[in-house]
Amino acid sequence: MIESTGKQFYLQTADSSYWFRVTKFGHLEHVYYGPALPVQDMEPLALKRTAQWGSTVAYDQDDLNYSLDIVPLEWSGTGYGDYRFAPAELVMPDGSYSQDFTYVRHVVTPGYHPMKTLPSAYGTNGECDTLTITLRDNATRVELDLIYTVFEQVNVIARRVVLRNASSGEVVINRLLSGMVDLPGRGLNLITFDGGWIKETHKHVRPLEYGFNVNSSTTGASSNRHNPGFLLAEQTATESCGLVYGFNLVYSGNHLGIAELHNNDLARVAVGINDHCFNWRLDPGESFETPQMVMTVSDQGFNGASHNFHDFINQNIVRGGWKNKERPVLFNNWEAHFFDFDQSKLEELASSAKKLGAELFVLDDGWFGKRDADNAGLGDYSVNLKKLPKGLAGFGKYLNKIGLDFGLWFEPEMVNEDSDLFRKHPEWASLVPGRRHAQGRNQYVLDLTNPAVQDYLIKSVSQIIDENHIQYVKWDMNRHISDAFSPLLENQGEFFHRYMIGLYRVLKQIFITRPHVLLESCSSGGNRFDLGMLCFSPQVWSSDDTDPVERLAIQGGLSYLYPPSTMGAHVSAAPHQQTLRLTPMSTRFNVAAFGVLGYELDLKYVGRLEQKEIKDQIEFYKRHRRTLQFGRFSRIDNPKPNKVCWQTAARDGHEVISGFFQTQATAAEGYDTLKVLDLNPKARYELSTRPQPLYLARFGGLIKHVLPVELAPDGVIMRTAGKLYKMDDAVEHYQGTGALFAQGVMLANQFIGSHYNAETRLLGDFGSSLYVTELKK
Ligand code: DGJ
Repeated sequence: MIESTGKQFYLQTADSSYWFRVTKFGHLEHVYYGPALPVQDMEPLALKRTAQWGSTVAYDQDDLNYSLDIVPLEWSGTGYGDYRFAPAELVMPDGSYSQDFTYVRHVVTPGYHPMKTLPSAYGTNGECDTLTITLRDNATRVELDLIYTVFEQVNVIARRVVLRNASSGEVVINRLLSGMVDLPGRGLNLITFDGGWIKETHKHVRPLEYGFNVNSSTTGASSNRHNPGFLLAEQTATESCGLVYGFNLVYSGNHLGIAELHNNDLARVAVGINDHCFNWRLDPGESFETPQMVMTVSDQGFNGASHNFHDFINQNIVRGGWKNKERPVLFNNWEAHFFDFDQSKLEELASSAKKLGAELFVLDDGWFGKRDADNAGLGDYSVNLKKLPKGLAGFGKYLNKIGLDFGLWFEPEMVNEDSDLFRKHPEWASLVPGRRHAQGRNQYVLDLTNPAVQDYLIKSVSQIIDENHIQYVKWDMNRHISDAFSPLLENQGEFFHRYMIGLYRVLKQIFITRPHVLLESCSSGGNRFDLGMLCFSPQVWSSDDTDPVERLAIQGGLSYLYPPSTMGAHVSAAPHQQTLRLTPMSTRFNVAAFGVLGYELDLKYVGRLEQKEIKDQIEFYKRHRRTLQFGRFSRIDNPKPNKVCWQTAARDGHEVISGFFQTQATAAEGYDTLKVLDLNPKARYELSTRPQPLYLARFGGLIKHVLPVELAPDGVIMRTAGKLYKMDDAVEHYQGTGALFAQGVMLANQFIGSHYNAETRLLGDFGSSLYVTELKK
């Protein structure tokens, strides 16, 4: 709901309020962002200006206390005394860098305003309202619309700006962010989600200190280095209490997030397109639209902010046939085969996968052109008939016959030098003439600013999808952009942003017109996990790291910003290809279950017992799929540093699924508790461990103390026995009220080095269990 009384604006969501007003000089003064308050006079919450700050420049000699440097603002200019970070750097038609945008008019409209060039959050008229405030730089008549769309039920406000050149001269944009706000900044932590390949979105917390704190990407994508989403939180905030602000950007290119703590204790937050190599010229009559930034706030801790973002993404970002629709359990052949496969290997894997319960088979890299390694073939769409003599259609028919849907990998934005496409159209690769060229993974980036390149991709990918009844596409992108250049552009400062506009056009043409196709975007794993891609792909491959211990950090980090329904998560073979770590099969599943489940391992080398375990896992996942993919996901505080606890609660309240994970075991571990939240305090529930096997090999030499006869731990008999017999991990059952479970159930002892019995939990390094808490009828 948006209310305006005179020049005061109240943006109200179910649980939050965002208030600002127009000052006597026409600037937008931010007043409050926090837990919901009833609409009333906002003066008590406004920052006071009863004295003149030293070292400030007065905006007007009639009021020396009014310096733009100390006013909390919704938008700041340049050249009038605000020395904090400016969301825009413009060369104005008068040749100066000065800009002073002040209030002209506003309008409130139901629903949202779709954008011309970029994807945006969307909603029905009942779900959201939009406030557009027009500001003008009176000296030049350049105008700026600040556009706020309020998503009431999910507590999210989306913001963007449109700069309109209503003057008669040129405007040069060196920087134009999507929005900014000045918040009370004392005692806050800044939380970012950073990393690199196979270690994406690790959470990093640091106190917000004076000066600039920057969260940015210049790789051409939103990047695995710094996810565009970040949080500011009270330093005392926990997962379930305390004030937390969240910010993100609906964009997949270079991004910039700034949190600047100023000496007046205000924290300026600004988010938008990175100004790195950015330059855009606006002729008279032209306008420029920025991507949307999104904001949320909660006083219910990090989970509160996450719940808002999760609901917003499921309701107002993801669209098409897969919105809120349960996602299939897939088998992907990448970690099993890499490039080394043929039709019979694929059929063998697919038929075993089907027997274990898979619903979709994904043929990954290597099916086209001369693609036997990563140095050839990208850009070409002819099927490799040596590997697939009956073509894609023939393999697809086989899959459909055995009851599996067909998914296919593409990497459309790239080209290898050794490809027919590069031989025919070298000018389609983004390369700077006269300079040396840099390759990443032996490939160049295609010039997606070029409409001919866009059309080639739209035609090639669409044709393959349609001719082969492809139900799922994995859209990969395996390098950062270098050599940014298009022969078609007069101003190369437009390259990075026009690349994104081109990519979004391609994705729109292929996928919005084929809503039945499930798109999973990927970029060497989670190198482009962002709200822009989620407007087209309901799920994203979270990381090339399938080691579940690493995934606790990766999926855990992602979960602050994105819901489980968006996270591709696979069970793979151990020791893991990324870390050489050996982890239990149960933990690989228990972690992947908190995302969109898949498997990628060669079943030929998986023994009978583990195959049975996989079958049971998939059955369990399917039974609880709605809760696991679309339930309310929370991280549970646990004081022990070697524990991670997650849970997801069914929306109708009938069950909660919890995961209890141990990273490194410590000797003689003390008690463990499992808190189950989001239950009805008065209703009665039963909590049960999901049964999972324990393999004899896990016990090594200890096994001789358990068996009546002494056998060599690695001898033939033990190895054979290990293939045929298993033990069962401890299963616990408890009953009680929701209020009781919220206090934390005391779990059975862990293995503490004394002896083994069937009631003791055998976690060791990297052990874990899932628990189902069900409402009693
Ligand atoms: C990188 C992806 O993240 C992997 O899952 C796989 O698809 C490879 N590319 C294939 O080249």
